[in-house]
Amino acid sequence: MASLSLCSAHLSSTPSRSSFPTSSLSTPLSLFPSPIIRRNSSIFFTVTPRQIPQPFRTCTSLVKCCVKEPLKVMISGAPASGKGTQCELIVQKFGLVHISTGDLLRAEVSSGTEIGKKAKEFMNSGSLVPDEIVIAMVAGRLSREDAKKNGWLLDGFPRTSAQAQSLDKLNVKPDIFLLLDVPDEILIERCVGRRLDPVSGKIYHIKSYPPESDEVKARLVTRPDDTEEKVKARLQIYKQNSEAIISAYSDVMIKIDANRPREMVFEETQTLLSQINLNRMIKTGKKSETTLFLVFLPFLNQALTKLLLLFLVFMQAILIIKQVLADKASPVQDNWRGIPTRLNNIPHSRDIRSYFYEDVLQATVRSIKDGNTRLRVDINIPELNPEMDVYRIGTLMELVRTLALSFADDGKRVKVCVQGSMGEGALAGMPLQLAGTRKILEYMDWGDDETLGTFVKLGAIGGKEVDEEDDIFILVAPQNAVGNCIIDDLQAMTTAAGKRPVVLINPRLKDLPASSGIMQTMGREKRLEYALTFDNCYVFRLLYYAGTQYPIMGALRMSYPYRYELYKRVTEENGKEKYVLISTYSERPTPDQINDAFSGKSREESKKPSGIWGFLGSGFF
Ligand code: AP5
Repeated sequence: MASLSLCSAHLSSTPSRSSFPTSSLSTPLSLFPSPIIRRNSSIFFTVTPRQIPQPFRTCTSLVKCCVKEPLKVMISGAPASGKGTQCELIVQKFGLVHISTGDLLRAEVSSGTEIGKKAKEFMNSGSLVPDEIVIAMVAGRLSREDAKKNGWLLDGFPRTSAQAQSLDKLNVKPDIFLLLDVPDEILIERCVGRRLDPVSGKIYHIKSYPPESDEVKARLVTRPDDTEEKVKARLQIYKQNSEAIISAYSDVMIKIDANRPREMVFEETQTLLSQINLNRMIKTGKKSETTLFLVFLPFLNQALTKLLLLFLVFMQAILIIKQVLADKASPVQDNWRGIPTRLNNIPHSRDIRSYFYEDVLQATVRSIKDGNTRLRVDINIPELNPEMDVYRIGTLMELVRTLALSFADDGKRVKVCVQGSMGEGALAGMPLQLAGTRKILEYMDWGDDETLGTFVKLGAIGGKEVDEEDDIFILVAPQNAVGNCIIDDLQAMTTAAGKRPVVLINPRLKDLPASSGIMQTMGREKRLEYALTFDNCYVFRLLYYAGTQYPIMGALRMSYPYRYELYKRVTEENGKEKYVLISTYSERPTPDQINDAFSGKSREESKKPSGIWGFLGSGFF
C-alpha cells in the first residue's frame, strides 16, 4: 500500500539501532490518496458521481464517510476593516456560505419587510440593530441545509455579548475567529470611498479599487451609513463591544494585520483556513482513506480504474506536499498540543522538558528532510537558560541527547560538539557555562554500551573535528568568549562538513571583546554574513514585561516550516492559565511589532527594520 511520510525521522535506509531509546516522532502525514473530493478545499479533486468508475458508484456511503467536516469561520473587525472584501475571496476559494448580517439587513431594508422597516433607522444612524432581530435572523440562516453542508462564514456577527451568548446556547462555535486589524484613520478613508455594485454585490473603492469598466462605474451606489460622521459613530460602537466578543473567542482568535493590500491579507487568511482543512484531513484521512482503499481493492480489475487511481494518488501527493510547504501558519499544526503552562515553575517537570525536546526534534527533522543543512535552534525557557544557573546546562544536554539519539536511531552517525578552550595566554579559556559540559555528556545514559563511540561521538568545534563517516553535527551552545571569537572555528567546521547538516543549539555569538579590544581575526561584517547562512529551524522565547522575569507576558514560537507565532499568556477565572495565539509573522517580529500586537495596535510595515538592521535586531546574537 502506497503511503508516504512527510515528517518521519527516517532519514536513511541504514539499519536502525533498535535497542536505543527512541524518540517518538508523532504524526507522520499520510499521503494516502482519496479519490474523493472535498468541495471546500483546494487540495482535493472534484469528482462527480458520473466520473466515479462503475464499481465505485455502488460505494457512495463510503465516499460520504470521508467527506470532511465543513469549515466554520467568523470574521470580525471595525467598520471597513475589509471583512466583506475578504469574505468575497474566501467564498470563492472555500465555497463557504457567507452570512453577513449587514447584507441580510440591507436586503430586508430594500425589500421593505417588517424587519427592514425596524432596522432601517438604526442602520442609517450607524447604531446597532436590536439583538433580538439580528439573532433570530442569523439562527435561521445557520440552520439551513447549505450552511450545515458547506460550512459557513459569519461576517459581522456576533457584535454584542448577548449575540455571542445566543450562539453559545445554540452550540455554534467557530473553528477560527479572524480579527482584521486596521488603524482608525485608515478606516474612515476606506468607508467614505467605498462603492457597491448592486448587480454583482462586489465591493469597490473609488481610489484604491476602482471598477473595471464604465458600465460598472455608472451603476455603483454609496451606502447611506458611509459618511465620515456615521463611520465615526460606528467605530465607537464597535470599540465598546469588541472586547467582550474577542474574549468570547480568544481560544480560536487570530489577529490579522489588515492594513496591507487585500491580496496579502487574503494570503494569510487562506493559509490559516487551509491549515485547518489540512489538519483535519490528516486526522481523518489516516483512518478513513485506508479503509476506503481496502474496500475498493477487490473492484480494481479494470486497467483504466487502476490508472485513474494511480493518477489521483500521484496528484494528491503532489498537492498535499505543496500545501504543506506553502501553509506556514500553524495554529493547528501536526497535532501540536499548544504551549504548555506552568512555565514559571522552576525546575520544570519532566513532562514539560520532554515536550520541548519533542517540539525541537520535530522542527529539526522537518528542516533536514527539506534539505536544509545549516540549522539554528534558539530555545530559551528558564530551565534551558544556563545564564541563570549553571546546573541548567543539564537540561540543554538532555535536549542534545534527544536529538542525537533520534538521528542515531535512524542509522545516522552523529557528532555532538562542544567547543574546547580558546585563545592563548591570559585570554585562554572557555565560557563558564560550557565548563564541564563535555564530561557531563560522557557520563550521560546513552542507551546501551555501544551507542557512544559508534553512532554518537563527542567532539570539539573546528575543521579537524569533521570525519568522513560523520553524517550530522550538533553543536552545543557555541559562543564567543571574552576576547575570543568562535566563528573562525565554526566556519572551518561548516566548510569541512559540506552538505552535511550542522545544527547549532542555542548559539550565543555576541561580541565579547577583552578589555584590550581584541576580538580575534574575522571582521564583524564577515561574521554577520556567516551567521546569516544558518536558518532558524526552531525558536521559542518567553516574553516578559520590560526589566522583569515575572510574570510571563507571552511567548514567541517558530517551528520549521511554519510562521512565527506570538502568544499571550492569559490567566483564567479558575486560576489556571493558557496561551492564546494573537498574531503570526513570516519573519521574526521586531520588539516593536511584539509590543504593538500586545497592545492591540496594528504593526506598521514601514517601521520594520530590514536588511542588516533587521538582522541585528533579530536576536541572532
Ligand atoms: P456591516 O455591513 O456589517 O458594516 P460594518 O461592520 O460596519 O462593516 P463594513 O461593511 O462597513 O466594512 P467591511 O469590514 O465589510 O469592509 P469592506 O470589505 O466593505 O453592518 C452595517 C450595519 O448593519 C451596522 O452598522 C448595524 O447597524 C447593522 N448590523 C450589522 N450586523 C449587526 C449585528 N450583528 N448586530 C446589530 N446590528 C448589526 O471594505 C471597506 C472598503 O475598504 C471598501 O471600499 C474596500 O474596497 C476597501 N478595502 C477592503 N480591504 C482593503 C485593503 N486590504 N486595502 C485597501 N482597501 C481595502
